[in-house]
Amino acid sequence: MAGAVRDMTETAGPSAEGVLRVGVVGVGVMGSNHARVLAGLPGIELVGVADTDRKQADFVARTLGCVAVADVGELLDLNVDAITIAAPTHLHRDIALAAIARGVHVMVEKPIASTVEEGREIIAAARRAGLTLMVGHVERFNPAVEAIKEAIRNEDILSIAITRVGPFPPRMSNVGVVIDLAVHDIDLIRWFTDSDIVEVQPQLSSAVAEREDIALLQFRTASGVLAHINTNWLTPFKARNVTVATRGKYVMGDLLTRQVTECFGFQPDGSYSMRHLSVGHAEPLRAELLAFLRSVRSGAAPPVTGEEAVASLEIAAQCLAVRPATVAPAKRKAPSLVAG
Ligand SMILES: NC(=O)c1ccc[n+]([C@@H]2O[C@H](COP(=O)([O-])OP(=O)(O)OC[C@H]3O[C@@H](n4cnc5c(N)ncnc54)[C@H](O)[C@@H]3O)[C@@H](O)[C@H]2O)c1
Repeated sequence: MAGAVRDMTETAGPSAEGVLRVGVVGVGVMGSNHARVLAGLPGIELVGVADTDRKQADFVARTLGCVAVADVGELLDLNVDAITIAAPTHLHRDIALAAIARGVHVMVEKPIASTVEEGREIIAAARRAGLTLMVGHVERFNPAVEAIKEAIRNEDILSIAITRVGPFPPRMSNVGVVIDLAVHDIDLIRWFTDSDIVEVQPQLSSAVAEREDIALLQFRTASGVLAHINTNWLTPFKARNVTVATRGKYVMGDLLTRQVTECFGFQPDGSYSMRHLSVGHAEPLRAELLAFLRSVRSGAAPPVTGEEAVASLEIAAQCLAVRPATVAPAKRKAPSLVAG
């Protein structure tokens, strides 16, 4: 998996022929970034953007010089080869299936769908149609994450701890922190360890919102690694930190500042060496979209498959399944923060 990410070049691939016609469905916070990046890629034509919010679609289309349409059907009528989907998660399945039915390759934002079953429907349809399906677990393309993955290659990993905290998002969808945030880190734990998660010990709480806004999640992988995710929407600043303990190293990464440091050479007297690792500076979304388009052109499996995304969603769902037994009673309610 790591090789697929690291081999990225600045073009959509060596077998690239002709211009790929691409569209974006849902151009809110994430989708407008998809459109911005796609508009600047070589060998790509951003044909159009679809959004039910016509003002937003018109604004993005005018800024980037493409067509604005109201929905995925109209976008597909523009004869696109591929679309990216950044509409709200509960719409991913229907939009992806509509595109696949018309022979169009799909990159869908994380989480792949609202439920594991819907995610599997998308995978099955794409497989039957022989189309590329990739899922936007963009953190895999963060150069700091790639540096950590490289630092622990061939190491005997013992434990992983990930912190992903911040304030409440300005507009909340109808999911809590497990589906919105922890799913990134569940994917990272599976990717770092090249192993499945086989044990889940979640602690969830709804301190302010209707859904869980604090989660402390513990896991064990099939390979025996212990992992921990600390995530919440109750921290006044954003933090994204990863530490990995292996038998030979202790690796610390800040995914925001992209500083990655490793401690190694542990001595019986307690001394050790420390070094900062070299970290690239590519924009993760650009690297992700290039990888998708390269898979579209070559037919090779994309670096983040539907199956991997469903496996991560399934673990997130398991964390939520035990919620009634562990959740603390809500102390304060802030219904205005919750869309659904
Ligand atoms: N990879 C990441 O780090 C990351 C970050 C943020 C969001 N996301 C994912 O991206 C998706 C969108 O999140 P967001 O924060 O950009 O939401 P958003 O609300 O900012 O944008 C969603 C857009 O979709 C539009 N829309 C709604 N229904 C539509 C339809 N039927 N057809 C076309 N457009 C429609 C809305 O008008 C809105 O403009 C979610 O699945 C979310 O999980 C991923």
